[in-house]
Amino acid sequence: MNAAHDASRVVALVPAAGRGVRLGEAMPKAFVPIGGSPMLTLAVDGLIASGVVDRIVIIAPAELVRHAESALPAGFPADVVAGGAERIDSVRAGLAAAPEATHVLVHDAARALTPPSLIARVVAELRAGYPAVVPGVPVADTIKSVDSRQTVTGTPDRAGLRAIQTPQGFEAQLLREAYALDVPATDDAGLVERLGARVRVIPGDTMAFKITTPLDLRLANALLADRPVPDAVS
Ligand code: CTP
Ligand code: MG
Repeated sequence: MNAAHDASRVVALVPAAGRGVRLGEAMPKAFVPIGGSPMLTLAVDGLIASGVVDRIVIIAPAELVRHAESALPAGFPADVVAGGAERIDSVRAGLAAAPEATHVLVHDAARALTPPSLIARVVAELRAGYPAVVPGVPVADTIKSVDSRQTVTGTPDRAGLRAIQTPQGFEAQLLREAYALDVPATDDAGLVERLGARVRVIPGDTMAFKITTPLDLRLANALLADRPVPDAVS
């Protein structure tokens, strides 16, 4: 959905302002290298390779904004803004820097190995008229709810559960209204759901897993070692 096609503007917001406490590295997680490249760089490269994004807004820790600017891709419209204490604050800052967007993708830097083809599929669904589109994969483990005493209170049917990934795609105005609600949510679609809007789930991709723990980092490094040439959507 780039400018060559129509008047729409797809802006990808890349939250990269987290500390990476669970990963436990010395630097903020998005700047930790995988196969020699920072996660943030890999995530941005994937968005550009998808061919469906018009501009990228990176949301970085305040003290690393300059550093992130120095690593911006040459020849592609991209900007860096400072994030906030919670992811929701960071995305809000990115959204404010994308007033021209007709459609917004929110894509975690921590999902650094996301295939460009998945990004293209999310945007294709937006183009087909769905106002909110998220990738999801079946849940492998049995999920149980528990109370404060660690007593099981229920076992939802796994067939009806999905683990949700990014990029999450939205009509920009819908996401702006959702962020204006100013209520807590663990993902962007969760805010849109609060508005009563319909959120469509499309099949995700196991390669879009979120690098959260040291085990995830080892997996990501191993996968990159096995994948010398990144895939791209032509
Ligand atoms: N993020 C952000 N601003 C925050 C918190 C998170 O931009 N205040 C970003 C992270 O950089 C990451 C994405 O949101 O790309 C998903 O968050 P998560 O995986 O939880 O990353 P961290 O918050 O960095 O990790 P942790 O929770 O272990 O500290
Ligand atoms: Mg976090």
